[in-house]
Amino acid sequence: MIMNNKKELKRLYGFALLTIFVISISLPLSHYADAQIIFRNTLTGEQLDFSFAKKGEETKQQKYFMSTGLNQYLGDAEAIKVGADLFLTACSGCHGHEAEGKLGPALGDDYWTYPKNTTDKGFFETMFGGARAMMGPQYKQLTIDEMLKVIAYVRSIYWGSVEKADWLTEEQKATFKPAHIPKDYLEALKKHQESS
Ligand code: HEC
Repeated sequence: MIMNNKKELKRLYGFALLTIFVISISLPLSHYADAQIIFRNTLTGEQLDFSFAKKGEETKQQKYFMSTGLNQYLGDAEAIKVGADLFLTACSGCHGHEAEGKLGPALGDDYWTYPKNTTDKGFFETMFGGARAMMGPQYKQLTIDEMLKVIAYVRSIYWGSVEKADWLTEEQKATFKPAHIPKDYLEALKKHQESS
């Protein structure tokens, strides 16, 4: 009887050690998994491969974005200025100088072909990996950090409804004022309404 109890104790002791071992290994692992979010191609859903990305300085805003999907450049006047210049060279040819829409759709209104573009993670995925036709992947033109600044610029000229501005916090929504609507956008809208 005594022998058996001893054996049982040893077994329990071994089991406890094993449990502690497993927990101590899996805790840091799950922590690591939490810190990673998966970015996906807007059309195919495949995971984006960042090894092709244009190399640039890995800023702290970029690191934060890659682990949270949140863009710290929103509302940052300096980043928005840089983003505006980048937008003019990389995007305005197709999306218009004021994002009013041209070959590609307007980006300052609240109509989205891909609803996920109302989050900065989604918008970034579309920019990085591309969408249909002329909307090619932008990873050769812009670094990840530059893309975040372009997003900050595009969000800063948003003239759509506040309810659809998912990138704003509730607090920011409360004080949100839409930007001015580009003339060309209004004219195109009028023409569209007249013809339909
Ligand atoms: C050569 C033309 C071209 C260039 C350059 C271009 N785009 Fe596009 N873009 C398009 C077209 C065309 C579409 C529509 C594609 C579709 O519906 O799949 C589009 C779609 C998009 C969408 C999705 C809009 C929605 O309604 O969901 C976003 C976001 C976008 N572009 C951002 C950008 C940004 C930012 C840049 C610059 C870094 C850029 N594009 C450069 C042509 C272009």
